[in-house]
Amino acid sequence: MNGPSSGRVGGLSRRDFARLVAVGGASSWIAAGSTWVPSAEALPPTPAAPNEAFWEAVRDQFVMPRDLGVINAANLCPSSAPVLQAMYDATRDIDRDPSPNNREKLGEAKETTRSLLAEFLRVTPEEILITRNTSEANNMVSSGVQLGAGDEVVIFADNHPSNKRAWESKAERFGFTVTELPVPNPHPGPEYYIDAVEKALTSRTRVLSFTHLTSTVGDLFPARELCRIAREREVLSLLDGAQTFGLLDVDLSDLQPDFYTGSAHKWPCGAKEAGVLFVNQRSHDKIWPTILSAYTGRVGISRTHEGFGQRDEPAMIGFSEALKLQTTVGRQAIEQRSQELAQLVIRELGAVDGVKVWTSPNPALSSAVVSFQPGNLDLRKLSAALYENDRIGCATRGGADRGGLRFSPHFYNLQSEVERAIGAVKKYMAQGV
Ligand SMILES: Cc1ncc(COP(=O)(O)O)c(C=O)c1O
Repeated sequence: MNGPSSGRVGGLSRRDFARLVAVGGASSWIAAGSTWVPSAEALPPTPAAPNEAFWEAVRDQFVMPRDLGVINAANLCPSSAPVLQAMYDATRDIDRDPSPNNREKLGEAKETTRSLLAEFLRVTPEEILITRNTSEANNMVSSGVQLGAGDEVVIFADNHPSNKRAWESKAERFGFTVTELPVPNPHPGPEYYIDAVEKALTSRTRVLSFTHLTSTVGDLFPARELCRIAREREVLSLLDGAQTFGLLDVDLSDLQPDFYTGSAHKWPCGAKEAGVLFVNQRSHDKIWPTILSAYTGRVGISRTHEGFGQRDEPAMIGFSEALKLQTTVGRQAIEQRSQELAQLVIRELGAVDGVKVWTSPNPALSSAVVSFQPGNLDLRKLSAALYENDRIGCATRGGADRGGLRFSPHFYNLQSEVERAIGAVKKYMAQGV
């Protein structure tokens, strides 16, 4: 690991790295955040049973200072040093020579990202659209599927606004109806949802739209079975994968949704404003393009549905690097590591008097998104104390619906910082905040 006085940051000279940051117009944080820098060293091979030393080497791929434990992957993940480096190189290259001649190769780079995405999700490049994020991808589906009076869309109560409010708004506009199925807490088991969907789908239902892993309390939905039921009833399925893409070893050839969506800047640890929309080959003729402009993709559905005008190609190149890092570490290893850290949180906090854990302790029903209500502690004060006193970043969930704090650990989190977060919550539960 390079120390603070090292002249290099993730393979960049300090001067170049400062310029990279300046590219984003945020040069002020380089001074505040430069106390720790990542290693440019290659990762060791992932051991059969990865130990903490291995996860420290993984952490060294990220620029987050070692004293800061941000346990908030469900919201936004840091990009790794290889991603930063790739984006810097590509941005500098284009800005040094923005001629069409020099930029021609960016079209190739975009197709490379598409191929890597297809490989990652175990589908074909012809079925992949590179979007800005999950919100955009979800809306491309709700705007692109032709629906009208007499048609019905079935959703769940626990969907992100981009997969709930979006449907409701379009229903108002186009005259179809939206049926919302309840999501009980604690997780009632997969059979409950299978049964609920079997009963809910009618001859009018055109789309079933649900979230693979909820962002609220981390309920894992039986995606494969729900997509199968939809398929058998000739209903289109939209699987919102914002919380599983880059966390679980998702295999779309097995789950077989019609549409799957995700964001690079969440669990994949890629660039901001890059995302994915998978459109199953069997459904290419079921969705209209939402945005029509120049610079489409070169294969499959991207030739008609990915003309978004001028794009941020360096972000897409960064996306590639993120997928490569995940593949190098190992998808199964990442899934397992994140879940182990989450299980630690559930076990430890579940045993604290007054703490109500909303997330299922059953690893078959949850993954790495853990929400809990810390007694009567004021959430804002608790979150501020955790950040300022204990150097822990996490999400707060206000409101009446299973409010509290959310810890969502990922493969860059060390066990020691998850333990520090747990210890700090225990401390504030005992002494107040
Ligand atoms: C389930 C789910 N869907 C969609 C989104 C939207 O993601 P983005 O803001 O990257 O578009 C989120 C964000 O947290 C989410 O949790």
